[in-house]
Amino acid sequence: DWTSDTFIDTTVADLKKKIGSDKVVMGLSGGVDSSVAATLIHRAIGDQLTCVFVDNGLLRKNEFEEVLDSYKHMGLNVIGVDAKLRFYDALAGLTDPEAKRKAIGRVFIEVFDDEAHKIEGVKWLGQGTIYPDVIESVSVKGPSATIKSHHNVGGLPDFMKLSVVEPLNTLFKDEVREVGRALEIVETIIGRHPFPGPGLAIRILGDITEEKVKTLQEVDHIFIQGLKNHGLYDQVWQAGAILLPIQSVGVMGDERTYERVVALRAVGSVDGMTADWIHLPYEFLGKMSNEIINRVKGVNRVVYDISSKPPATIEWE
Ligand code: XMP
Repeated sequence: DWTSDTFIDTTVADLKKKIGSDKVVMGLSGGVDSSVAATLIHRAIGDQLTCVFVDNGLLRKNEFEEVLDSYKHMGLNVIGVDAKLRFYDALAGLTDPEAKRKAIGRVFIEVFDDEAHKIEGVKWLGQGTIYPDVIESVSVKGPSATIKSHHNVGGLPDFMKLSVVEPLNTLFKDEVREVGRALEIVETIIGRHPFPGPGLAIRILGDITEEKVKTLQEVDHIFIQGLKNHGLYDQVWQAGAILLPIQSVGVMGDERTYERVVALRAVGSVDGMTADWIHLPYEFLGKMSNEIINRVKGVNRVVYDISSKPPATIEWE
């Protein structure tokens, strides 16, 4: 019978044997999979593992600092890289969703490779690939911003001549979470909603500017905190906000406003392949709408996405 404790024991032993005294580099995303994989590898080989966590400027509000802090508390040897401007530069003027994804993927590989080259004699690339990623080896929407195997099972870029080590590639998500809990990883990481590699870039329809990112971060923060404060976060598989490329007329005092519209999205799912929109309570939605419109400058209208997948997708791009 499968138990997380036996899985941990055998995996740590296997990793020790496989890696020996070699060095491993691994990209962390703040998500469950990469965090659990890194913790297992760290158990096996300690500081022979170097982790890289890239701030692509497309993460949630305060996420980079908070997650980096959690990683340090977990004893991982993590290099935090502020690459915001490199990503914003590469994204400037791009509006096509695939073009945005490609630009983000390319810059991520460049930034990661720069860091990997600084580690002398590194032989292995750690990855948080889980079993469903192996089966479904290509994302419907194209390459991710993180070096995640389901977008790379066919092989890594040539210049990264590293062998791959993927300790979670036989597990499903719920098993990964179980292993994570047995490893005593904090619940803020284990219970975290999935978040796409390209981050907020695919939730800002149209071109990306730093100002739009800031606006969406504020909206998203109010919504996610709201879900947490109302005990709804754990009942939702994934949630977020989308900044729409349109403005709508509103009124404030005696003034006519002409400002942005945001959509809120919350879905239930098992694996992201299909999803249902969640019937969040009207009172909660009303409260979120008021808070967002009152607190976020430049937004005067909030709508709720009531589409399921299929035929809609979870993300809007
Ligand atoms: P869709 O929008 O295709 O999303 O229904 C299904 C799940 O995949 C995530 N997603 C991505 N993850 N890179 C990622 O790492 C991507 O390019 C990407 N596109 C979508 C999405 O957030 C949802 O969990």
